[in-house]
Amino acid sequence: MSVTQIQEEILKLKQEKDVVILAHYYQPIEIQEIADHLGGSLGLSRLANKVDTDYIIFAGVDFMAETASILNQNKKVLIPNPESCCPMAAYLTVDKVKEFKANNPNLPVVVYVNSTAAVKAESDICCTSANAVNVVKRISSEFNAKAVLFGPDANLADYVEQKSGIKCIKMPEKGNCYVHSQLTIDDMEKIRIAYPKCELLVHPECIREVRELADFVGSTGQMYNRVKNNTTSENDFCIGTEIGLMERMAQDFPNKNFHLISEKLICYNMKKNTIELMRYVLDNLDDPMFEVKVPPEIAKKALKPIEKMLEYS
Ligand code: 13P
Ligand code: SF4
Repeated sequence: MSVTQIQEEILKLKQEKDVVILAHYYQPIEIQEIADHLGGSLGLSRLANKVDTDYIIFAGVDFMAETASILNQNKKVLIPNPESCCPMAAYLTVDKVKEFKANNPNLPVVVYVNSTAAVKAESDICCTSANAVNVVKRISSEFNAKAVLFGPDANLADYVEQKSGIKCIKMPEKGNCYVHSQLTIDDMEKIRIAYPKCELLVHPECIREVRELADFVGSTGQMYNRVKNNTTSENDFCIGTEIGLMERMAQDFPNKNFHLISEKLICYNMKKNTIELMRYVLDNLDDPMFEVKVPPEIAKKALKPIEKMLEYS
C-alpha cells in the first residue's frame, strides 16, 4: 500500500472516531500532513490543554505525550511508537533534582519540558525553548531570587542566562540534545560561505559558539513564524534544527528556499513514529500498548508547574 493510500485511510478513520492527532514539526512529513494540529512543544501543550475528543494521538516523543496526559487525565493519550523517547530527559533524575534543591533551598526550580513527568512534579515551573527566558525572568522575580535551578538542557540554560541576565544553575552540568549539540562552528562557517545571503536560524539547544554565528535563535515555532513573517526580498533560509521543520516550511512556503545546515540534524527518536504505526493505532485505540498514562499522583503534582508555565507564556 502506498503512503498516500495509508494517509487516505487515516483521514477516513479519523473522521469516524473521536480522536485528534497532534504532531510535532520533527515528525516524518507524511505524519505532519495528516495531523489535525501541528506545532512546537509550546503550541502543542496549549492545544493539548483544549482537547475535547476522548482520544489524543500524540505524534512526538514521550515527554510531549506525557504532558498531554497530565493535562488530560480523563482522556486516552496514545503514541504511535511507545519507544519514541527524548534521550535528553534521562539526564535529570528525581534524585538529582532533590539533591540540587537541598543544596540551594531558596532557588526556584525550572524544568524544561523535555523531562520526565516525575521530574516535572518536583519543579516550581516548566518551560519550553519558546518561553524559557520569560519564565525564568518571572519566576526569579516571584521568588526574589538572583538565580534559578535549570535542567536538563545545559545549552538552553546558558542561552537563558545570556538573555535574561539571571544565573541558571545547570542541573546537571552537561545535559544536552544529541541532535542540536552536534552542530559545529565549522558547519556554520561552511553554510555561510555556501549561501552568503541566507539567514541562519538555529535552535537554543545548540552550543553557544554555534548560536553566536546565527542570525536568529528560536524554538521551532519561533523559527516557523520568523520565516512566515519575513517580508524582505531575501528568500533563502539555512535551518539549524531537526529536518522535519524544514520539510514543513518547504511545503508551506514554496516560494522560499531552505538549506539544512548539517545532514546530522535528524532526531531518530522522533522518526520512530511511522505512518504505518499511526494507521495501526487508529484501529487499536484501546490497546494499552500505545497508551501514555502518567500515574494520577505524579500527574497531580506535575500539573501545577505546567499550568503555571501556560499562564506565564
Ligand atoms: P521546540 O520546543 O522548539 O518545539 O523543540 C522541541 C525539541 O525537542 C527540541 O529539540
Ligand atoms: Fe529530544 Fe533532541 Fe530529539 Fe528534541 S531533537 S526530541 S531534544 S533528542
